[in-house]
Amino acid sequence: MLAKDCTKKIILTGDRPTGKLHLGHYVGSLKRRVELQNSGNFDEINILVADDQALTDNWDNPKKVRDNIIEVTLDYLSAGIDPDKANICIQSAIPALHALTFYYMNLVTTQRLSRNPTVKSEMKLRGFTGNDVDNDNEQGLPAGFFTYPVSQAADITAFKATTVPAGEDQMPMVEQTREIAHRFNTIYNCDVLVEPDILIPDVSAQRRLPGLDGKAKMSKSLGNCIYLSDDEKTVKQKVMSMYTDPTHINIADPGHVEGNMVFTYLDAFLRDDSQFADYLPDYQNLDEMKEHYQKGGLGDMKCKKFLLKVMEEMLQPIRVERAKWSANIGDVFDILKAGTDHAVKVTNATLSECREAMKINYFDDKASMVADWEAWEKESHSEA
Ligand code: TRP
Repeated sequence: MLAKDCTKKIILTGDRPTGKLHLGHYVGSLKRRVELQNSGNFDEINILVADDQALTDNWDNPKKVRDNIIEVTLDYLSAGIDPDKANICIQSAIPALHALTFYYMNLVTTQRLSRNPTVKSEMKLRGFTGNDVDNDNEQGLPAGFFTYPVSQAADITAFKATTVPAGEDQMPMVEQTREIAHRFNTIYNCDVLVEPDILIPDVSAQRRLPGLDGKAKMSKSLGNCIYLSDDEKTVKQKVMSMYTDPTHINIADPGHVEGNMVFTYLDAFLRDDSQFADYLPDYQNLDEMKEHYQKGGLGDMKCKKFLLKVMEEMLQPIRVERAKWSANIGDVFDILKAGTDHAVKVTNATLSECREAMKINYFDDKASMVADWEAWEKESHSEA
């Protein structure tokens, strides 16, 4: 059996470079990554700019993906990812990921892939409906898109990640990764692959941040986002236009906090109660503020102004960092290059172990390849 080093704690996570990162990405995953990075509890932190995965639904627009590679990396760096502690790398430049994907394809069925709830809802959103081979009118389901969870399993296992900090929507991907890793180890009688755990945010409002309009998810395609790179004026405009409670017409009316984006965002973004003392001393904490709103007598404008203060406290330092890195894009490129070079080495080592476990590492050992053939030949003669 090939041994694995069980003592190491390794993080792998990533994003598709299809657009600037927004607050949903930030509270759902990015903020946590920065905390984990600074905790000192991990031996290795890898962040993958998943451009191959981005191409599975943007094959006709590689320029968009290309442009967003630097953009997303800028978002990482400005949010506090430290290139001395974390390794940022580009998926398409890591050949081992492609090879592993191909072997893992044999370990999943199309039926199992069809049950992935995240892929199902993404298919609907993209119009990749209909998988009827006899119906010419259907757009159909691109095989690359359908199988991207397999490639994501390769991303995670190639780094031997133990931990995947990600949003709730990534749970089916990590589950599928665990299944593939388990099958691989069982079928090839080895201990090469690690079954990872997902780490989702503790606060439920952070797990799936709704959009400004109250729709289920903040998402670029729904146009309901606040981006990490938005300037102060834009953030203000967006906060002021947020969906609150349509039944709360006059200030004196009782209001609802459930489904009210101002309160959902306060749940997600309030750092601690001291922010009340700083910006809204009428209340000691969020419970008191909610109570007043529900009773009636607290206006939306006052709530929004407070939320804006809370958000700006978080966004200001990110903007300052972004301005610094933006002035040195060459450095950002170099960080990606160094991170990718490192990732190529690490993942090639895993690929070698996998090939060895499958005994398809033909050119590693000529003598045993020749000896095996001779033994096999002898056997077939003795059978005859
Ligand atoms: N699927 C993730 C997303 O849509 C991106 C991603 C690709 C990823 N590979 C990964 C996330 C590996 C975690 C681990 O954002």
